[in-house]
Amino acid sequence: MSEQFNMVAKTIFGYEELLEKELIALGAADVAKGKRMVSFKGDLGFLYKANLACRTAIKILKPILQFSAFTEKSLYDNVQSIDWSKVFNLHQTFAIDATVHSEFFNHSLFVSQKVKDAIVDQFRDKYNERPSVDLKTPDIRINVYINEHEVSIALDSSGDSLNKRGYRAETNVAPMNEVLAAGLVMFSDWHGQCDFLDPMCGSGTILIEAAMIAQNIPPNRHRKYFAFMKWNDWNETLFAQIKENLLKKIKPMEVKITGYDKDQSVIEKALNNIKLAGLEKSIAIKQMNFFQSKKETETPLHILFNPPYNERIDIETETFYKTIGDTFKKNYPGTTAWFITANLEGLKYIGLKASRKIVVANGQLEARLAKYEIYAGTKRIFLRE
Ligand SMILES: C[S@@+](CC[C@H](N)C(=O)[O-])C[C@H]1O[C@@H](n2cnc3c(N)ncnc32)[C@H](O)[C@@H]1O
Repeated sequence: MSEQFNMVAKTIFGYEELLEKELIALGAADVAKGKRMVSFKGDLGFLYKANLACRTAIKILKPILQFSAFTEKSLYDNVQSIDWSKVFNLHQTFAIDATVHSEFFNHSLFVSQKVKDAIVDQFRDKYNERPSVDLKTPDIRINVYINEHEVSIALDSSGDSLNKRGYRAETNVAPMNEVLAAGLVMFSDWHGQCDFLDPMCGSGTILIEAAMIAQNIPPNRHRKYFAFMKWNDWNETLFAQIKENLLKKIKPMEVKITGYDKDQSVIEKALNNIKLAGLEKSIAIKQMNFFQSKKETETPLHILFNPPYNERIDIETETFYKTIGDTFKKNYPGTTAWFITANLEGLKYIGLKASRKIVVANGQLEARLAKYEIYAGTKRIFLRE
């Protein structure tokens, strides 16, 4: 068996348990969740697999040194204890990303500078030359995380965040992060067991992530570049094998995935993204006002969407959210409906009792993912009221 090493997958607030489950299902060892991260063990092939297949990971890091530092000098000395010439060479560029939660090391820029100096000085002492820093597109990204006096130095194996799947060319005014969208589908426990509708689909992110979940498609199959491709242990043959094994497990779509949006220009953008994701056969979208729509079949339906919050898109909160509730009750019997909103006031006007509410972060906004069971009899009860 090839060498096993520690890895850390970073994620968004509230997504730790979903990511832990994903990593276990993919075959990771020693999986343990922390705050906005999950640590695990695997080999080089697993590092490739995690980058290609994890839906709720933002980055996969490979820690290379952990230590306690109480002075700037000990930070510098510990960084110099790594033989950096084994990690990269003079002709490769690098960048440092530092995150600090510490009273002593309270400036991430200063920490980046110190770590950079330690690396550059080591190269200069050895070769009389130094590698260059490239903040935008470095060959090697080094991640520094300091919690009080505990320092972790890791190599970033992903590069661009893993939510950049490579399918979104066009966005509307309020596009959703792909990792956030995948996690919402997973929280709602939909994996292709019945028809799925996003009735306010915008650029189509939820639809695309849902289709990939139902068909077991690795979310990053179209990504051209991962940072590990510039590492000195880059194994192109192993990567191709891992990718091929994942692609072999793709299943055909057995249910209908549909998207509506009332805005035709948004629909066109969504169509383009769906095409880029190679999912035009799996997802149907049409221009439609959800409030004038009806459930189209007698069979169970799963709704998941992201209505406007009145943050980036203007709406009249009370009327808008009340109409969502009325549409559920009158036109969607036999449906499980979920939506995410940061408009907590809006939730009060739905007029149905949520059977679950999950706290999630949508960027800087604290949001709720709410679930409503709309039984076939709900329409009658509603009309009698
Ligand atoms: C917050 S955006 C959805 C973003 C989407 N999740 C994405 O990733 O791009 C809300 C969308 O709802 C649409 N919308 C608002 N009211 C609607 C209605 N009554 N029926 C259908 N779509 C509506 C807007 O046009 C907008 O595209």
